[in-house]
Formats: sequence, C-alpha cells, structure tokens
Amino acid sequence: MIGLQAIRQRVNDYLELDLSFESKHSTQLSDGMKYAVLNGGKRLRGSMVCASAIGLNGSLEAALGPAAAVEYLHAYSLVHDDLPDMDNASLRRGKPSCHAAFGTTTAILVGDALQSLAYETLAKCGELSSQQRVNALQALLDAGGWANMVGGQAMDMELENRTIADSSTLDVLNGAKTGALFRASAEIGSVVAGFDPATSEYRSLSEFAGFVGAAFQITDDILDATQHSDVLGKPAQADGTAGKLNYVTHIGVERAQAKAAKLLGNAFDVLDRMDLQESTLAEIANLCVNRSK
Ligand code: IPE
Ligand code: IPE
Ligand code: MG
Ligand code: MG
Ligand code: MG
Repeated sequence: MIGLQAIRQRVNDYLELDLSFESKHSTQLSDGMKYAVLNGGKRLRGSMVCASAIGLNGSLEAALGPAAAVEYLHAYSLVHDDLPDMDNASLRRGKPSCHAAFGTTTAILVGDALQSLAYETLAKCGELSSQQRVNALQALLDAGGWANMVGGQAMDMELENRTIADSSTLDVLNGAKTGALFRASAEIGSVVAGFDPATSEYRSLSEFAGFVGAAFQITDDILDATQHSDVLGKPAQADGTAGKLNYVTHIGVERAQAKAAKLLGNAFDVLDRMDLQESTLAEIANLCVNRSK
C-alpha cells in the first residue's frame, strides 16, 4: 500500500513541475499563483483523488493531474476566502496570505486564474479518455460552483452574527462549502480508476468523502477555537471574532467533537462495506479529524 506521505510527495512534485511557467502578461500573477499553491498545505483533497483511484485499483500516475486540478481549485478558494471582504485573514499556511503578500488586486486575479487552471488541467489530462475527462469536469464544476462551494461561501458570509434554530443549517453549509470538494475528489479518483457516476463504487466513495469533508470542516472550526495561530499557520479564534456560525459557536467544542467523531464513524462504515478499511483512504479520513493543524 502506498501511504499518504508518499502520495503527498508525488502530488507536491507534480504541482511544482506543473507550475514552472511564467505569465508573459504579469509575473506578479504567476508568482502569486505559485505562492498560493506551493506554500505547504496538507494536500488532503489531492491525496483523496489519488487514494480513491488506488483504492479502486486505478493508477497513481493517472491520478496526479486530476489531484493537481483539485488542489488548484482549493488554493483559489483559500486565496479568496482570506480576502479583506471575506474572512480578512492575513496569515495562511504560516506565511502572509496571498493578498497580504501581493495586494488584493493580484490576489483576486490569482484566485480567478487558479480556478480556470483547475478546469483546464482536467480538460487536457492526457491519461484520461474524453468521457473520463467530461465526468471529472462535471464533478469538479458541480462542487466548485454556485450550487456548492461558492454558494456555501456566500451562505457562510451571510450567516455571520446570525442565530439558527437547529444544526441542519450547518450541515447544509459544511456540505456546500467544504464537503462538496471532498466528494468531488473521491468522485474524480473513481473516474480515474474507470468508474462512472452510475457505479456503486463511485457513489459509495462520494458518500464516504461527504462524511469526511463535513467532519473535516467541524475539526477546522474546533481547531480555530482551541489551537494557537503559530501551530495552525492561520489566525486562531478568528471565527468567534467574526461572528461565524459553525458547530463550535453553535453547540460548543465538546459536542462539536462528538459530531465530528460520529461523521468519521459514518465514513468508516462506508469503507468497511467496500472492504477498504485498511486503505490510504482510511488514513486520510483519520487525519481529517485527528490533527493539530
Ligand atoms: C482549509 O483547508 C480550508 C477549509 C475548508 C477549512 P485545509 O486545512 O485543507 O488547508 P491546507 O490546504 O492544508 O492549507
Ligand atoms: C473555508 O472555510 C472554506 C472554503 C471553501 C475556503 P474557513 O474560512 O473556515 O477556512 P479557513 O479556516 O480560513 O482555512
Ligand atoms: Mg471562510
Ligand atoms: Mg477562512
Ligand atoms: Mg476555518
């Protein structure tokens, strides 16, 4: 079994090589893109693509381009998430966030460019058939657009300083802003391994990743409330200050931990069903909840 550490290394190497270009229009832009992607990051989503492909007996080689695509989309989301008019965070991955280093104008454009680079990377992925490319694009477009991540980010901002009657609103929020990209990562990995959206393998891994993504976001919210900024590499206690609505601000750290543990259990139920409880997918799921940053 190829472990998470080795997969992460392959993804990092791929990203480094793939981003070795310079914009002929603006070196600020291409420098900003590299800065936003090649600055650490746990590569959980890219690894989810690879581990899903491998778990379904597909090739790691073929999964690397698609893994990079998902990491580009994720990096774009972080650059825009940190902007002054969004979460206004000046630290990311232990360094000044993209707008703090390059200015807001460049950061907006870096996000725009990384978003289209994500889709372009899938569209031109030579290891996949044209039908596989369409299926992978469909999965990423659905996760990254108005109906999921962008919609979730809008909801996150609109819910600041509001109260809610019950936690189902938070499940919708977490599913959209974070869970969807985890799902897309598993779906794209399934496509790489030759499974289309009608197959039970694709659906099961998508369901698994939805649980993992929701548990991941709750853990992120717990870490925001409990961890130091120098460990996190991003501002701590930022959610409370901003009046964010999440499981921690809604029901407290302990109950949020219980909720994340329950979701992790749901994710493992799916892996058990698929006989993948010893896989790298299990390693990723565990790390999404049991981590310090
Ligand atoms: C942070 O994601 C954004 C959330 C959805 C909470 P990660 O914690 O995966 O960020 P990196 O890529 O490791 O920096
Ligand atoms: C971000 O959630 C979700 C995205 C889609 C980027 P957060 O706002 O909680 O992420 P961090 O804590 O800044 O990484
Ligand atoms: Mg945010
Ligand atoms: Mg944020
Ligand atoms: Mg957060």
